[in-house]
Formats: sequence, structure tokens, C-alpha cells
Amino acid sequence: NKLSILGVPMDLGQMRRGVDMGPSAMRYAGIVNRLKKLNYDVEDLGDIRAEITDMTQNENSSLRNLKAITDTSTVLADLVGSVVEKGRFPLVLGGDHSIAIGTLAGIGRYFQNLGVIWYDAHGDLNTDETSPSGNIHGMPLAASLGFGHPVLTEIGGYSPKIKPENVVIIGARDLDEGERKLIREKNINVFTMHEIDRLGMAKVMEQTIDYLKDRTDGVHLSLDLDGLDPHDAPGVGTPVLGGISYRESHLAMEMLAESRLITSAEFVEVNPILDERNKTAEVAVALMASLFGDKLL
Ligand code: ARG
Ligand code: MN
Ligand code: MN
Ligand code: MN
Repeated sequence: NKLSILGVPMDLGQMRRGVDMGPSAMRYAGIVNRLKKLNYDVEDLGDIRAEITDMTQNENSSLRNLKAITDTSTVLADLVGSVVEKGRFPLVLGGDHSIAIGTLAGIGRYFQNLGVIWYDAHGDLNTDETSPSGNIHGMPLAASLGFGHPVLTEIGGYSPKIKPENVVIIGARDLDEGERKLIREKNINVFTMHEIDRLGMAKVMEQTIDYLKDRTDGVHLSLDLDGLDPHDAPGVGTPVLGGISYRESHLAMEMLAESRLITSAEFVEVNPILDERNKTAEVAVALMASLFGDKLL
């Protein structure tokens, strides 16, 4: 129960400025004290130095801000790696979802079969060839699986970081054509909103935990706040209606806590500029508390 918090103030993976303030927003929402109260040995490493660029320079790029994102990801990978090395749990605060490339690059080398739970409205399975936007925050899961531009897939000096059969996507409701094709080809496990509605979140999490527990030696939770319904998490850059509720999300986190499966986590896409009085950061912090075992009784 030693954990290290690392902020990644980067917003270059997409076009709406402000998600670089996510780490501050989650700190102001009280993450450090919440976790200390749960008796964790908490170390806040502060924010890494994220590259800054003038985004207007690459309006039509198929990999917007590639260099800045690659440089930041490489620094992040090293830092996350050193946290794992010290035997501490890495808790990464984003930043847009492109930071997952660096997080997974840092963690991946320590596991033979790292599981990943991708809690998101999106698949983030685009490559520079399939992306409709050129936004790298739509590519981190593909890149970590080894698909896409080599500059992204080779971050950390090895590829792939994870295997398709060890991934479970939860909450998907906005997938691009190329992403659907990749999901079919690689047989990636996806619980879309359809399955969550049909089975209920309890069954979805039971099946996810059952599936991952026998085949993985660690599980990373990559939680994009846009996985939640925009009514509960309005401060995100790419909101999609019809999402996972606040209550379902708490249940999911509590079940993960009970499973003791999760070995690293990141919470991304909190954009204070788009938020309502820091609501989304507060939701993120409440979910983190549940993930780390907070219970009423
Ligand atoms: N699929 C869209 C794209 O490639 C949206 C991706 C949104 N990703 C996210 N991490 N919020 O641009
Ligand atoms: Mn998303
Ligand atoms: Mn995402
Ligand atoms: Mn809605």
C-alpha cells in the first residue's frame, strides 16, 4: 500500500485546450488526503514537465503534435518505470488520453501479461491511417498494442506493450470504422453500453475480473472520464451521450478494489475549462477513493 502520484499536464493529444490543468483540478479535489485517510503511504511526485507547442502549426497533420507528445511520453515512461521499480503503485493523473502511451510504456516491461481495463466512451484504437481527426488521444490503445506509426509504438524502446487478448474495453459507444475493424480482427473484448445495459455493471465487472484474473500478472486501469455520462462528468473534451453513470462507476471501482487485481491506474481527460465547478475532478477523486478501497461500512 505504497503509492506514487504523478501528474501529466499535457493537452496536445487533442484540440481543446485546458486538459493540461487536470492534475491540479484533481489535487484541489483532495486526492492526496483522500488516499492518506485510507492509510496509504502516499508520495506526490508532482507534475512532469510536459512539452508545450503552438498547436496552430499542424492543422492538417495525421499525427498532431507528434514530437511534443513523444518527448513527454518518453519522460513519463521512465518515471512510471522507476515507481514500479521501487515497488510502489503508480497513479497517473492526466492530461489527455495520449499519456497512456507513456504510462503503458513505463509499466509494460515489468509484466509478461499485463491486463488493461480501458474504461472509455471510445476505443482509442485509431492509427494515423484510420484516425478521422489526427488527434493522438484517439490512438493510445492501438499504439500500446503495437499498431500505428512506429514513432508512437516504439516509445520506451520496445513494442508491443500489451497483447490484444489481455485488454477489456468498458463503456464504448463511439467507435470509428477502423477501430471496429481492429476490434474484430484482433478479437478485442469490448463491453459496449449495450452490454452494460443488458447485463448490468455488476455482471460486466464480474466477467471482466474473472477473465483477467487467470491470464494476467498485473492489471492497469486506464479510466477516461468521458466513459461516464456527460451529465455526471461534463468536463471532458469529447463527451458522448448515453454513458456509464456515477453509481455504476462506483460499483465498478469497488469491485476492482475487492478483486485486488489492479496494479496501476490513470485518470485522464479532466478538462477544468469545460467543467462545472470542478465537478468532473471531484468525480474522478471519488472514483479513485473507491478504487483504493474506500467504503461506507
Ligand atoms: N475516435 C475519435 C478520434 O480518433 C475520438 C477519440 C477520443 N479519445 C479520447 N481519449 N477522448 O479522434
Ligand atoms: Mn474517450
Ligand atoms: Mn480515451
Ligand atoms: Mn446522457
